[in-house]
Amino acid sequence: MRRVMRRVMRRTLGGLAGLWLMLGAAAALGDELPRIGVLVYNGNDTFISHVSASIEKAAEGRARILFRDSHNSQILQNEQVGQLLADGVDAMIVNAVDRTSAIYLIRMVAPYGIPIVFNNREPLLEDLLEYGKAFYVGNNPKESGQMCGELIARYVREHPETLGEDQTLQYVMLKGEPGHQDAELRTVYSIKALKDAGIQLERLQETSAMWERSIAQEKMAGFIASYGNRIECVISNNDEMALGAIEALKAAGYFSDGRTIPVVGVDATDAAREALLEGTLLGTVLNNAEAQGNAALSLALLLMEGELSEDDFPYPLDHKPYLWIPSETVTRTEVEASDPV
Ligand code: BGC
Repeated sequence: MRRVMRRVMRRTLGGLAGLWLMLGAAAALGDELPRIGVLVYNGNDTFISHVSASIEKAAEGRARILFRDSHNSQILQNEQVGQLLADGVDAMIVNAVDRTSAIYLIRMVAPYGIPIVFNNREPLLEDLLEYGKAFYVGNNPKESGQMCGELIARYVREHPETLGEDQTLQYVMLKGEPGHQDAELRTVYSIKALKDAGIQLERLQETSAMWERSIAQEKMAGFIASYGNRIECVISNNDEMALGAIEALKAAGYFSDGRTIPVVGVDATDAAREALLEGTLLGTVLNNAEAQGNAALSLALLLMEGELSEDDFPYPLDHKPYLWIPSETVTRTEVEASDPV
């Protein structure tokens, strides 16, 4: 009842309703479970749909989720946040369309005193620090980028012929959406890991395929047409784009008759795990959708009750207000071990 009253009071923020109205509305609202608005930048994104499913699962019996798909429009997302606030939600989990808009959303939410937990698209530190109930949950892109580079470096060590006569690794980089921290930093850190491993590099192409399989497939087909077998490896910021590249490579005769090329991605989606077993994807890095969804929901619930204490929370808080869920390298070996065939 207290929660319902709080919600009703927020609803009337800036309004004129009296106590009798609050009581009536509280009775009408009925259930006691907290209501959490969950907004995603694009419901069709494979990784994001896994995170949404995990939030939904984590919420069972603990919260009622109100999902909103912002269809890649920050303007629409702003309106959805405004509407959810007017509806009196108790907390918000936001996968921002444009991470630099976080400050705007934080300033919308702060007067209501409810938590806002961002996920996957990382707000700037100074923006999060404006409001004590603003947090971020996601993957540390420096770590996942580095692991991608290390996967390739290990492959090159085991298959030195990959470098060819010039002893240089000619690579293609498939980037996610420009400006997305996971695209920018995974790119930089995968290359850094290769350089740190002492591998000489030549970038043939670096392009954004916007996290999408079909765009990556089309772009990769173009690169194969231009560079042919000068391409010695493909580094992709996520699995979907890696799988698109693999389709283009297959169409050009790779992965049959012993012709192969190392391709790495990030996320460890189900489709990527299949590609690992098939032997087309060399490796990926776990972007833990389940833990991220779970952590975002638990964080939102805890922040609703007050200050966050390290004791209440099973995830690493050493970079508060950022909560990075650890990455893990995933290759065929790990898939076979976790899911023996
Ligand atoms: C994931 C991508 C996803 C993107 C969406 C990244 O962290 O690796 O698969 O498309 O987030 O923002």
